[in-house]
This record gives sequence, structure tokens and C-alpha cells, in this order.
Amino acid sequence: MSDAQPDHEVAAPEYDWDGYSFDTRQVHAGEYEDTVSGARVTPIAMTAGYRFDSFDDARGRFSGEGDGLIYSRQRNPSGSVAEKRIASLEGGTEAIVVASGQAAITAALLSLAQAGDHIVSTASIYSGTRILFARSFARFGVTVDYVWDESDDAEWDRVITPATKAIFSETIPNPKNDIVDIAQVSRVARRHGIPFVVDNTVASPFLIRPIEHGADVVVHSATKFLSGHGAALSGVIVDGGTFDWAGSDRTYPLIEHGVGGGPSFLDRFPTTAYARATREAVVNDIGPALSPFNSFLLHQGIETLSLRMERHLSNSLTIAAWLEQHPRVESVDYAGLPGNPAFALAQDLYGGRSGSVFSVTVKGGEAGARRFLDSLRVISRMTNIGDVRSMALHPATTTHISFSQELRDRLGISPGLIRLSIGIEDVNDLIADLDAALLA
Ligand SMILES: Cc1ncc(COP(=O)(O)O)c(C=O)c1O
Repeated sequence: MSDAQPDHEVAAPEYDWDGYSFDTRQVHAGEYEDTVSGARVTPIAMTAGYRFDSFDDARGRFSGEGDGLIYSRQRNPSGSVAEKRIASLEGGTEAIVVASGQAAITAALLSLAQAGDHIVSTASIYSGTRILFARSFARFGVTVDYVWDESDDAEWDRVITPATKAIFSETIPNPKNDIVDIAQVSRVARRHGIPFVVDNTVASPFLIRPIEHGADVVVHSATKFLSGHGAALSGVIVDGGTFDWAGSDRTYPLIEHGVGGGPSFLDRFPTTAYARATREAVVNDIGPALSPFNSFLLHQGIETLSLRMERHLSNSLTIAAWLEQHPRVESVDYAGLPGNPAFALAQDLYGGRSGSVFSVTVKGGEAGARRFLDSLRVISRMTNIGDVRSMALHPATTTHISFSQELRDRLGISPGLIRLSIGIEDVNDLIADLDAALLA
């Protein structure tokens, strides 16, 4: 190395990524360099705890002065990279990473609702969330009712009660790709003064950023598109910083009330009160911390989000259109196809891009579905969505098997319906695999 000084100023690296484009922020937002070695990729902070500088420093950290780290159940530097990156991409004020999407939904809602409270959700949601509501939330004393037609204000008004503390929805539900008009749902939530929590797993912030359309909180199963590799579970909760807690007629004790007469989260952190309460009073208590290694895998995945999504989308549109005209196919549920009832909404709100998880109904009912699935070779039979590999599943006999026949019928989960999660492989290879399986 030369000791010579350059005859010009050497530019310092950029670390504030506000104002840069989505594609730049997905690579850089939240990153930091190892100041010891100069390692360019943010190192993995494998540690459960952090040394306190002194007795007084420990007291300061526990009393919430400054931002010093305490213990990795609450915050970890590797997790913070993913948190800052996702908060930046979703346009939120702060994010909290947790061990799975289910943990994210649970923590996001339990910071708003407690025993005796009520949540209203749109009806078409991930089957695991429906089971979470019906089983665990019911045991916690939190009840959930559903709205089947989100465009019907009267239906919302009938279901919302004074005990309703959150409205929940998804952007692109699976398996039916029956995309939701989240701008309409936010108007309902605003009118009633209730925070709106949106699961944006299937769309990802590349397709839609719910906070821009009036959502207050966004959750993800980051296991899916955000990671893309399918190698590890993770979840995230993003605070939009948008909800007017003090202005709502409803009370949110965890956020608005201090402990023992002390200041509340809202007093201390006006724009991130929800995130602080969720991190410190729900995630830290219950403990679904994301391992630093999985945090690292998550922010590595996010770096290529937009590139992967472009391929997921173009493959899906080509495959959905091809399937629709196949003689062995009864129907295709994909909002990107002109005949779909949500086509106009997909164009207006989602820029014509309705993701890569949708369903195809093959002829021959369950027997046809069985033959089709058993004949796939490139596309994997498995329950996951949103990784680079294409996957297929028969919801009626797997994810939705515990539902009553009546509920399955109402949700449109018919015996011949197959969920596809289209990956980033070559589209012709995927079509050849689907064709061979359909003809089998
Ligand atoms: C829309 C949606 N939300 C949440 C989850 C739960 O996420 P995880 O499996 O990471 O717990 C899933 C999982 O499939 C999902 O599809």
C-alpha cells in the first residue's frame, strides 16, 4: 500500500439512503461496515447480549435513554439492518424483525388487542392466519369477525363494534389471487378511527406499499418474497407512524398508558410509539426473536427483490394466460388476466401486477388434481410460496383440510384447485412441466 496522499479529496461512502430509488435502497438501506476490518458486507452479529460500559450505562439503557443495545431478544445489529431496509422500502418509521410471519401477525395484533377486544378481517386471508385467529386468539380472549365484500361499507359498519381494535387484511391473498382494495379498507378504518394492519407478503413492497394507501401497519412473512431463497423463516412488522392514537375514540392501553404513572410509549416516541410498544412490550415479553444468522439471510435476499419480482411477474402472466387456454384446465384465478373480476383493480391499484401466487383448477376434481401434482417434475409439491423455486399444492387436502366443507366452498377452495407459486426458472421449462402434468 502506498503512503502517498491523493491530491484531491476522497469521497466518504454514503450511509444515508433516504431519497435514493427503491432498487438502490434494497441493496444499501440499513447497512453498516465493519470498522475493524472494513468488511464490505455487513457482518453477522452472533451475540445474545452486549457489554455495558458501566453501572450507569446499564441503568441508562434499561430506562430507555439513548439507543444502546441490551439483549438480542429485543434488538440485534443484524436484525437492525433488515429492519431499516424494510422500513425504508415500505415507507414506515420503524420495523421489527421476528422469527416468522406468524410471529409478526401475532405481535402486530396483540399490541392493539387484548382479552375482550375484537378484530375485523377481510375473509380471504392466508389459511394459517385464519387458524391463528380461530384457535390461539380465541384462547387469548380476542375475537375475529370477517367481512366478505370489502367494497360494502354497510357490511363493515355491521361487523365493527366499540370493542374493535384493529382491521386486518392482505394485499394479494392466496390461493385465489383475489386482490384487495386496500385504499377502500383504509377509508373504512379511518372513518372508524381503527388502525389498519396489512399483510403484504405476497405483493412485497416492490408491487405495492400499503402505507401509501392509508394502512397504519404492514406485516410480512419475510420467509417468502423478501428473502426469496426459501432457506429460513422470518417475519417483520412495519410501523407507518400514521395512526392518530390520541385522536381515536378507542383506547390502546399498551401504547397510550405508562406503567406506574410513568410516560407512555406515545409520550416518549410520538411517531414510533406503536413500533416501540410492539418491540419492547410484546416481542420482548413473548420472545420470537429472529436469529442474527436468519437476519443476515433476510437482508441478503432483499438485495435482489426487484429483479426477482420482475421475473416472478413476467413468468406468472405468461403461465396464467397459457393455462387459461389449456383444454385440461377449468379456470385460472389470476387478477392479471383480463377476464378476472379484479382485473380493473389490479390495473388501478397494483399497476397491473398481481404477483406470482395464484390458482389453477384442473378438470377431473380431486382425482385430476392428484394426477397433475404427482406428475410435476420441475415444480415442487410443497407448502411454501415466494421463493425462487416454483411450487404447487392442493389446498383442499392440505392447508385448508381442517376447514369445514362449507367454509372451503365459500372460500372457493374446490377439489380441482391447485395453488401455484411461480418461481424464476425459465418460463418454457415451467410450461413444459405444467403441460406434461396436465396431459398425464
Ligand atoms: C400471507 C402469509 N402471511 C403469513 C404467513 C406465515 O408466515 P411464516 O410461515 O413465515 O410464519 C404466510 C405463510 O405462508 C403467508 O402466506
